[in-house]
Amino acid sequence: MSHYLCYPSSSEDCVRGRLEELRTLGVVEVLNLLGKGHAAVVLEARLSNGTPVAVKVLRVDSKRTDLTAECRIAELAYPVSPKVYSCSEEFIVMELVRGYPAVEVLVSEGFRYPYVVKVLAAGRWLDVRGVDHRELSRAHKHVVIDRTGAVRILDYESAAVVERPCNICRLFSWLARLRGVDVGVLGEVLTPLRYYKKAESEDLRRELFKEILRSSEVLSVHPESRSGNCISCN
Ligand SMILES: Nc1ncnc2c1ncn2[C@@H]1O[C@H](COP(=O)(O)OP(=O)(O)OP(=O)(O)O)[C@@H](O)[C@H]1O
Ligand SMILES: [Mg+2]
Repeated sequence: MSHYLCYPSSSEDCVRGRLEELRTLGVVEVLNLLGKGHAAVVLEARLSNGTPVAVKVLRVDSKRTDLTAECRIAELAYPVSPKVYSCSEEFIVMELVRGYPAVEVLVSEGFRYPYVVKVLAAGRWLDVRGVDHRELSRAHKHVVIDRTGAVRILDYESAAVVERPCNICRLFSWLARLRGVDVGVLGEVLTPLRYYKKAESEDLRRELFKEILRSSEVLSVHPESRSGNCISCN
């Protein structure tokens, strides 16, 4: 598995050097490949005290020069992001998130309102922290429901710290698209979302978020029951 440390190269010198560096970060064993992206690979590994971790490793052919900016933002986004244990230019050693893609849970649970609320609340947390994730249009890959039922958002590669991010805007349109909800039905939510995006005061954003959550119930209602001609829609 350690050959992935220098992916896509398999230079022994590179692997040896990176293994040594990983040891200084407390990682003693590399176990599995969790994912392979354009700029990095993610490996399951183990710390010397036995803690399972995920290690994001900069690919040697990556256009990015290091992972430290991503790491700082991931730290800011915790506990929605995985907990970061340590970082270097080439590695982010973080909590191993075990769970299911949120999309699978949402679909299998019929978009039950508590799940819709949890997803939007995770986005709201990022908004409060000033973290703009910037890849939530691909939320399928990045939003996970962990074993405790908490919504976790992965991959802060494109994220930035900005004044008034609107992660909930992205998540809401993702949910609406997934659910196949008609824009006409969304009017009640789109207005507070528009205000939320523009609002400068955090108090106002907090109030608007409550309204957004209330009206988001439309995402959980069975589509046929909206038309008023449903016989047994429970
Ligand atoms: N902390 C984690 N715990 C468990 N699995 C993880 C963790 N971080 C990432 N993964 C897994 O590895 C995959 C790739 O992670 P990530 O999206 O951060 O890599 P990437 O190199 O930025 O990929 P891409 O270029 O496709 O965006 C994720 O989709 C997920 O399956
Ligand atoms: Mg990425």
